[in-house]
Amino acid sequence: MRPAPFRPSSAHLFVCTNARDLHDPLGAGCGARGRALYDALKRAVTRGGLVSRVWVSRTHCLGVCPQVGAALAVSPTGGLFTEVDAGDADGLVAAVRGA
Ligand code: FES
Repeated sequence: MRPAPFRPSSAHLFVCTNARDLHDPLGAGCGARGRALYDALKRAVTRGGLVSRVWVSRTHCLGVCPQVGAALAVSPTGGLFTEVDAGDADGLVAAVRGA
């Protein structure tokens, strides 16, 4: 093991892409809606030339399980959002770009 070079981001967006069975009592999860949001955020970050400053990662359940859209957590500000959809990507990236 050896340490890796680390350049901290100004913001890190965690998108829930957790998928459950349709009949799961907790709901189907963010699943495909989360994946669509993740892809839209990656495109927005790339378009904005922010790849090294705004990171986007997929994650599992964030505990707020929306019926529409997906859940999103923002670090380091600690914001947690639910019912986020791909159409929100540009606005989210604009909001965190200077964080
Ligand atoms: S499945 Fe996405 S927040 Fe729970």
